[in-house]
Amino acid sequence: MQNEVILKVQDLSRRFGGVRAVDGISFEVKSGEALGIIGPNGSGKSTLINLITGFVKPDKGAVFYKGNNITGLKPHKIASIGIARSFQTVKPFYNLPVYKNLIIPLYSNRVKKQLKGGCMGDRDEAAMHLLEEVGFERESNLPYKITGTLPHGYLKKLELARCLCLDPEIVIVDELFSGMSMSEIASAMPIMEKIVAEGKTLIMIEHRLRELFRVVQGVMVLNFGKIIARGTPEEVVKVEEVKEAYLGKEGETVA
Ligand SMILES: Nc1ncnc2c1ncn2[C@@H]1O[C@H](COP(=O)(O)OP(=O)(O)O)[C@@H](O)[C@H]1O
Ligand SMILES: [Mg+2]
Repeated sequence: MQNEVILKVQDLSRRFGGVRAVDGISFEVKSGEALGIIGPNGSGKSTLINLITGFVKPDKGAVFYKGNNITGLKPHKIASIGIARSFQTVKPFYNLPVYKNLIIPLYSNRVKKQLKGGCMGDRDEAAMHLLEEVGFERESNLPYKITGTLPHGYLKKLELARCLCLDPEIVIVDELFSGMSMSEIASAMPIMEKIVAEGKTLIMIEHRLRELFRVVQGVMVLNFGKIIARGTPEEVVKVEEVKEAYLGKEGETVA
């Protein structure tokens, strides 16, 4: 339901050796909200996502999804209850044809349950449809190519399709636009906007602020594993600590 807290992160912490990658982070995300996460390299953004989605175990703290404590659940379990994430570094099955990457998640219980009574028809067709949705041209033969031969931008699109396969309630993307060309980013923007328009909850880690700020209503800024600001894009870019941490002291502009 709109406006209910769908995700709650409480005092989440994780160290790697002497590095406090995520250091006592707490925040809430409302259902249907689009939240951007920004911060310098190494500020803990990916680790935070790994903690939420079960890929890394916290030293301390908890994650609640729809009020249920999901801390420490396995990644596949977290995906199956509706939280999908893309990886900053893509990890497709490089030796398979592109569309086959989506067939495996399409066999998951979550998808089966949703299709109960309905007719999904052919899973190949469903995979093709998803690929088209993320910008693989219908008439192109790219979906049939061996994944390893795809240009990087398309690998990122495939990564997004893999995410959307499970019809998640929360979509988390980690630097989706990095490695994409300007035209690929332009074609990916409506997909992000559609995810939000459909009422899904979106958490978007992104360095490209101009594009990010067109999609999200709220932004959270991390530095050294801590939240240093949260607010609207207009609000956070005015915070002095954000300017210094994220934008450099030279006074680079972002808009
Ligand atoms: N698996 C790991 N082992 C050791 N150090 C890690 C690991 N993952 C992340 N770190 C460290 O934690 C800090 C935060 O990293 P990360 O979450 O990847 O930041 P960001 O995504 O904001 O660039 C960095 O100092 C990074 O080197
Ligand atoms: Mg990262």
